[in-house]
Amino acid sequence: MDQLNSNREQWGSRLGFILAAMGSAVGLGNIWRFSYVTGENGGAAFLLVYLLCIIAIGIPIIMAEFTIGRKAQSDAVGSFEKLAPGKPWILAGFMGVASAFIILSFYGVIAGWTVKYFFSYLTGGFSVQNDEAYADVFVGFITSTYEPLFWQFAFMAITVGIVFVGVKKGIEATNKILMPLLAILVVILAGYSLSLGGASEALSFLFTPDWSKLADPNVYLAALGQAFFSLSLGMGALITYGSYLSKKEQLPGAALGVAALDTGFAIIAGLMIFPAVFAFGIEPGFGPGLVFITLPGIFDSIAFGTLFGLAFFFLLAAAALSSAVSLLEVAVAYFIRKFSWSRQKASLIVGGIIFLLGIPSSLGIGPLSDITFFGKDILDSMDFIASNILLPLGGLIIALFMGWGWKKTDALAESDFGDTAIGHAWIFTLRYFAPIAIFLIFLASTGLLDLIKSLFS
Ligand code: PHE
Repeated sequence: MDQLNSNREQWGSRLGFILAAMGSAVGLGNIWRFSYVTGENGGAAFLLVYLLCIIAIGIPIIMAEFTIGRKAQSDAVGSFEKLAPGKPWILAGFMGVASAFIILSFYGVIAGWTVKYFFSYLTGGFSVQNDEAYADVFVGFITSTYEPLFWQFAFMAITVGIVFVGVKKGIEATNKILMPLLAILVVILAGYSLSLGGASEALSFLFTPDWSKLADPNVYLAALGQAFFSLSLGMGALITYGSYLSKKEQLPGAALGVAALDTGFAIIAGLMIFPAVFAFGIEPGFGPGLVFITLPGIFDSIAFGTLFGLAFFFLLAAAALSSAVSLLEVAVAYFIRKFSWSRQKASLIVGGIIFLLGIPSSLGIGPLSDITFFGKDILDSMDFIASNILLPLGGLIIALFMGWGWKKTDALAESDFGDTAIGHAWIFTLRYFAPIAIFLIFLASTGLLDLIKSLFS
């Protein structure tokens, strides 16, 4: 088997794999999506459920994906083919490839916005009269027809370029320097934001739960979806990255490291955004544009603000890039194997299709804003289907596969847990807790749980 795989790439070093997995996890999900979803779902109560989802569902499934990927040494679909030929588990692989297409299609749109903001700061920043005007500038930009498409194209072209060159050369190097820089910058900005006068309101919004929010099942679904999205989980991205790993690494440490870093980033991003949101009188539930209207206000009021804006949007775009690369890699790795395409051909074709697929998401905000599904525009609908439905469902299947489809002794050995208490707790979580929790959250958010309850009362 190793002979067959001898032409597959491998990470250059142990650090290379962890950095790449972290680069996949840390992205727009931590800053853009985390802050607006937290804002929309009422803050602290949401945050609590989100943290529970990370610990009790997310980390165990990260471990499952790493273990599957390293064992199978194949892509999201191929891994299931290899480990369980002819079994239905492979559905998770196909859903993963589909999710990669859907997520990257709108991810490219938002990432394009960050690239545009970077260029705006490069040319001197925004000159506006008052804080409300940042919303006007932003809305004017995203509702226009061609400009967002241009930036989306630019971002996707860079993403394709990196995947074109290949896993090792392309991905490892970029993450090593830029991610720590982004972390430092976000911490500095959080410190500054906390000094703006909205700190106490922001802290109570983020950390003092309004328990009544927990009565709304959609809060759970949003938290679950955010956990999966932010951890790059449930779609085989971590299977694919795990497959470039040699047998020498210790997986549990890597899984914990990725989850801790990703969650830390999100919380500090919250501390950067929300104090400013309250200080500037912005509505926390403003929606997907939240960071794009809040941050320029911060940069405007800080010394060397234009430089900060420049550095921030550059690093955010870089973080988005390493996540986008992992999304594209899921699909590209599959097409390379399935159709025997070259890496170059696969990156260009798949990347091109995903760019085209993203166009409606971009236009749906402006010219096509009449098209909505359950009140959501095209981008939000894509995001909802992929993040809140496909990823948790993929995670559910992966958990069941590892928990029930593997011999327990194999699962424990291949995961590096071995015959330990924590290893057994992990298997228990995969077998029972995670699948049941995900299932109940689905059930509750469709209203079915209420229906069932009412039948018994
Ligand atoms: N986790 C990435 C982010 O937070 C997005 C992503 C989702 C990447 C799924 C890969 C797979 O931005």
